[in-house]
Amino acid sequence: MTIRVNGAEQSVDAPEDTPLLWVLRDWMGLKGTKFGCGIGQCGACTVHIDGSAQRSCITPVARVAGGEVSVTTIEGLASEDSLHPVQAAWLEHNVPQCGYCQSGQIMSAAALLDQETNPDDERISEFMAANLCRCGTYPRIHAAIRSVADGGAS
Ligand code: FES
Ligand code: FES
Repeated sequence: MTIRVNGAEQSVDAPEDTPLLWVLRDWMGLKGTKFGCGIGQCGACTVHIDGSAQRSCITPVARVAGGEVSVTTIEGLASEDSLHPVQAAWLEHNVPQCGYCQSGQIMSAAALLDQETNPDDERISEFMAANLCRCGTYPRIHAAIRSVADGGAS
């Protein structure tokens, strides 16, 4: 089947029910998307599917097959010449600790801010609640998102 990932169409020879996460990591070598729980509960595997934050561990690859659906991973979030504003804010606020959850956190935050330019604190907390962080970086995650929403990161 054909799937479109980070702007490029790729041919994948995988069973239709293979989780998109495994196709990204094992077929395509895009290891930035992480395996956490495997049951849609932690957010480590978050990617964008047509701009929406989705859990790739519970998304069968067939759902994005055919080339009409656009998948974006952390490797494809930045433009050619600059980081996504969320990535820049993550650096500015020194968000990561161990880093394991952070690509999923960034992908969720980017989806939120692409859809809602100025979410309030309650909305940020609500949207990000399903992305877990064992290291407890939640305050810095929130501050980084707040700064982008407030126009503090470019
Ligand atoms: S690995 Fe997908 S939600 Fe946890
Ligand atoms: S930074 Fe370690 S799990 Fe989030």
